[in-house]
Amino acid sequence: MPKYSDELLNEIFSQNDIVDYVSQYVKLKKNGRDYTGLCPFHKEKSPSFHINQEKQLFHCFGCGAGGNLVQFVMRSEGLDFVEAVKLMADRAGIILPEDDMQVDDKLYQKKKRILEINKTAARFYYETLTKDDAGKKGLEYLKKRAIDAKTITKYGLGYAPDAFDFLKKHMNKLGYTDGELLDAGLLVSRNGKTLDKFRARVIFPIIDLRGNVIAFGGRIVDAAEKDGYKPPKYLNSPDTPVFNKGKNLFSLNLAKKDCAEKCILCEGYMDVISVYKAGITSIVATLGTALTEEQAKLLLKYTDEILLCYDSDDAGQAATKRAIEVITGVNGRCRIMQLKGAKDPDEYINKNGVARFKEVMLSAIPSTEYLLNQVHKKYNLDTENGKILFVEDASGILSKIQNAIEVDAYVKKISDETEISKDAIYTEIKKHKSSGKISEGVKKTVRTGLNLAKNKSSTTLDAEKKLLSLVIGSKASYNAVKDDFSPQDYSYSVLQRLAEIIYSCYENGEAIEPPVITAKFSNEEADFVSNIFCNLETYSNEKNTVIQLVNTIKLQNIDEKIKQAEKEKDVLKLKELLDLRLKLEGNKKCQI
Ligand code: UTP
Ligand code: MN
Repeated sequence: MPKYSDELLNEIFSQNDIVDYVSQYVKLKKNGRDYTGLCPFHKEKSPSFHINQEKQLFHCFGCGAGGNLVQFVMRSEGLDFVEAVKLMADRAGIILPEDDMQVDDKLYQKKKRILEINKTAARFYYETLTKDDAGKKGLEYLKKRAIDAKTITKYGLGYAPDAFDFLKKHMNKLGYTDGELLDAGLLVSRNGKTLDKFRARVIFPIIDLRGNVIAFGGRIVDAAEKDGYKPPKYLNSPDTPVFNKGKNLFSLNLAKKDCAEKCILCEGYMDVISVYKAGITSIVATLGTALTEEQAKLLLKYTDEILLCYDSDDAGQAATKRAIEVITGVNGRCRIMQLKGAKDPDEYINKNGVARFKEVMLSAIPSTEYLLNQVHKKYNLDTENGKILFVEDASGILSKIQNAIEVDAYVKKISDETEISKDAIYTEIKKHKSSGKISEGVKKTVRTGLNLAKNKSSTTLDAEKKLLSLVIGSKASYNAVKDDFSPQDYSYSVLQRLAEIIYSCYENGEAIEPPVITAKFSNEEADFVSNIFCNLETYSNEKNTVIQLVNTIKLQNIDEKIKQAEKEKDVLKLKELLDLRLKLEGNKKCQI
């Protein structure tokens, strides 16, 4: 969908008065600050439809519909956003800049073209590997690595021979220009010349969930140094308009239907392929980078539990630790598979067979146990100092666990091992918690419930709406709460987004334009947003009111958490929350 600039939308809103337009359809009467009439969107006998001329927004207190002029036109005329904008621009004699419209369209066309190029190239590499003499080396290499024809076809593997223009020539003949091939990441330019990026490499197409070939990986078949230069073992496509390394996972397209319960996450293309070939299909790999939050979230959409199976070397173990942080940070569960006597899953399964690999899967250990084992190894527990340092590190790990029973079990174990009392260990854990090391991920998921009023009480919603209304109403209110209540502190995503926009208007000294801001929300959301804009109440002591509201909201949030902790019988957490509550209540009293 084309995007219109805020300036353009602002012009459309200021050249078309919403009262003027709507009065063609609805008999409006001036009523205090607002114009009111019978709502055109639902049947009613007494008028609950309001227009705020100053804000250029409408809102019905009967059916809840609300929004700006364009959103009114969309509803009343049954048009989409672009059509409604066009109609209102026409009405005011504003000419829409065509360029604005074409930016998105151009990008769309470019993406389409790159996907087409990738598909064509993948097919060409595949044909080369499987049917062409030029692919012999690739086939030999894969045979050496025990990859059969069926697996080659399943993954669409290919081969890029050792030549500078093997792919380029073929693609040029089909009408793809060097510029386009550069954009797709299939050519590179060197000294003013363009040449094939992948040479003398087995090709692994990277395929997204819709079946598009979005990128490629290529493994060198002959790693020997040549002309004083040792080529990198793997090359990957650069980020392109259709590919972002950190947002995709290799083989998720094949794993997704079988991985509801658990999915193995490993490091390499070959690991995935070997394990898949052995019949274990729920396995994916990152694409040559450390696991990102986005990848973890993506995978957790399809699976309940991630089984981390990184290389057994030090680098792999360090990466495992980071991956655990990323996964638990987004509230995911993971266990760790430990490969003994092999450097990676590919080697392990080829050496020991699939049955042994399955045993490793079954005996994967919980992430906490893994992390504790790692710190355990660091210290000599025969010395007092070693014990103390171990308990300090271990407490840091345990402070991030939410489940009290789990914590207790580990605390007991550590206490037995070190002869340090459970109480002392708990005190240490608490220190870590209060120093702000509580998993941010937990906080985030509490906050990002997309649906309005889903998990939260309506009193919190009301208080947050009122707070934001007041912040919109005056900069003094904003200044009074900005450091204490950030956009992320709102519980509902629409409020968060609206707050982000409002806060940034204040920070950047920009005018708050209600209809322009409302245009950034879907019609459904606009109902809610316009309600906030139109409900600006005034209070004699606004500053005090907003500060009190912030406190009330925080108290309500804590009360909800207290209820949860009571339910989970999480004594430690409960105590912490009650302390926090006491502190907040103290604040409240001070202000009254
Ligand atoms: P590894 O070095 O562990 O290789 O890299 P591997 O998967 O075991 O490969 P084989 O078995 O020797 O063929 C793991 C992953 O890291 C990325 C690749 O995605 C690879 O699969 N990588 C590795 C690169 O991107 N570039 C490199 O030079 C090496
Ligand atoms: Mn390997």
